Amino acid sequence: MSDATPRETIFSGIQPSGELHLGNYLGAIRNWVALQSSYRCFYCIVDYHAITQAFEPSEMARRVRDMAGDLIACGIDPAQSTLFVQSAVPEHTELAWVLASVTSYGELGRMTQFKDKSEKSPDNINAGLFTYPVLQAADILVYKATKVPVGEDQRQHLELAREIVRRFNTRFGDTFPEPEALYSSTPKILGLDGQAKMSKSLGNTISLREDDEAVWNKLRTAATDPARVRRTDAGDPDKCNVFSLHRFFTTEERQAEVRKGCTSASIGCIECKKWLLEGIKADLERIRARRAELLSKPDAIDEILADGARRARKVAAATMAVVRERLGLPRMPGPAG
Ligand code: TRP
Repeated sequence: MSDATPRETIFSGIQPSGELHLGNYLGAIRNWVALQSSYRCFYCIVDYHAITQAFEPSEMARRVRDMAGDLIACGIDPAQSTLFVQSAVPEHTELAWVLASVTSYGELGRMTQFKDKSEKSPDNINAGLFTYPVLQAADILVYKATKVPVGEDQRQHLELAREIVRRFNTRFGDTFPEPEALYSSTPKILGLDGQAKMSKSLGNTISLREDDEAVWNKLRTAATDPARVRRTDAGDPDKCNVFSLHRFFTTEERQAEVRKGCTSASIGCIECKKWLLEGIKADLERIRARRAELLSKPDAIDEILADGARRARKVAAATMAVVRERLGLPRMPGPAG
């Protein structure tokens, strides 16, 4: 980078869920893409976090690669940002162990995500799930990141990371900056049911990999203003989840047209949805074209991730060297020879 002033460092992570959906894209990834030009960004596929819940080992490599492909297709530029897989940079787990020693049992027990996940899978309340937020803090701190784009659901984890920094710095000397959350300004994206957050596990998503016909089949039956029962009823766009999606895909003039048509019952929900489809199609086509280009080069994704891991490791290893020194631990011997 040729800028004179050093850029602030951003870190964010995403679980390798397999593929991105419209909610991830609108809520998080578009923001990651926008941040690339003004920050030094580390974007990480957090496979070590993913193994704290039930998973199928034979599917993991594909999940990771698909997620990387989707992120790049959405506009994460590996030449600009460091895109990599968590387990390829062992300093994350190394630092997590150190940080675990300044994190209290009580604090971890109060994490609402731990409590929720424990309740959902009472037969798999493992120590990894319990210390998940410590690994998350290590992810951020090993790059000394100062800004962390996340959703509101990560607020408690970020607060804990800040507390860990204060405690570490007080005890061992100033080492880490306190990372600040960058909450996305996008309101929560609801699923097609118009009830719950769009989420793969709830089956209410539009995947970025769906073709136009599949997208239309889902949109066609998507929930709208529940009070608009008949075509002749006037609707309230502000109570309609489909209208809320128009904001992302439709010009303002067209949105005004939809609003007028809906409130006067001069257009039906199907017309409104057709207009939305046009906008979604344009975005998905661009994403699809990028993905196709990427997949046309064999091994391209693996090479990008390997290069990202090498770049990330340089930074992470330098941080760990300082951490070891602060703790009075021996220096890591260099490679043999
Ligand atoms: N826990 C985050 C999530 O589920 C993912 C994550 C892991 C993360 N490490 C991170 C996010 C570090 C921000 C910073 O969404």
